[in-house]
Amino acid sequence: MTLPSAPAPGLFIALEGGDGAGKSTQAALLTEMLAAAGHTVVRTREPGGTPVGEKLRSLVLDHGQGEIDARCEALIFAAARAAHTVQVIVPAVARGEIVVSDRYIDSSIAYQGAGRGLGTGEVQQLNEWATEGLWPDLTVLLDVSPEDGRSRRTASDAAEDRLESEPDGFHADIRRAFLALAAAHPERYLVLDAGLPAADLAAAVRGRVLGVLAARTATAGTATGPTAIGPTATAGDTAGSP
Ligand code: TYD
Repeated sequence: MTLPSAPAPGLFIALEGGDGAGKSTQAALLTEMLAAAGHTVVRTREPGGTPVGEKLRSLVLDHGQGEIDARCEALIFAAARAAHTVQVIVPAVARGEIVVSDRYIDSSIAYQGAGRGLGTGEVQQLNEWATEGLWPDLTVLLDVSPEDGRSRRTASDAAEDRLESEPDGFHADIRRAFLALAAAHPERYLVLDAGLPAADLAAAVRGRVLGVLAARTATAGTATGPTAIGPTATAGDTAGSP
C-alpha cells in the first residue's frame, strides 16, 4: 500500500500507555513503516529528546537522587517537555516531518496528576503552559493492566525505574486516567489492547495513521499544523477517579 506523502506542515504522533505496554516496539515499527514510505520521521521520547531533557530524565527516573516530591517531579517532566517541544517537535513539524514521540503530556496527567494525586486538571494546565498548548494530532494509547505491565517488565532484564517500581494501585490510577483522556477526545486517540500481538497492533496503528495522513492531504493548503488547542475538558481532578 502506498502512503500519501506528508504535506507541510507535518504530523505529531504520540504513543502512550502504562509501563510494559510495548510503546517502544510500536514506535519503532511505525517509524520504520513511515520511513519506508518516504516520510522523514523524527523518533523521539519523553522525558528526553534534547540534551537538557536527557539530563532531566536521569534526574527524575534514576534511583538514589535524593528526595523528589510530587510537585518537583511534575515540574521536572514539564521542563523536559518544554525543551522537547520548542527544540524538536515544533521545528520538525514545521519542516513537514512526522514526529513519533514515546510519551507526551498524557503521561504527566496520568502519572503525576492521577498517580501522584496532584490533580489531572492542574497538571494539564502546567503542561499546556510548558508547551504553549501543543497537543498531538494523534495519540495511540496502548492499554495495559497493572498486572500484565508488571509481568512484561519482569520478563525483560531492565531494572525498574522510580515510577515503574510503584505499587499496582498507582499503575491502576494511571490506567484509568489515560482511558479517561482518550474517552474525552476520541477524535484524536486510538486505544488498543496492549495484549494483542505486536503485528496486529502495528497494523491498527498503520491504518489510523494512514487515515490521518489522507485527511491531512485532503486539507493541504488549509492545514495549520499540529493541534494548537488542547482538550476543552480535563480527565477530572481527583486522583484515581478521572
Ligand atoms: P519510559 O520511557 O516509558 O520507560 P522505559 O525507559 O522503561 O521505556 O518512561 C519512563 C517513566 O517515566 C515511566 O515510568 C513513566 C514516567 N513518566 C512520568 O511519570 N511522567 C511523564 O510526564 C513522562 C513523560 C514519563
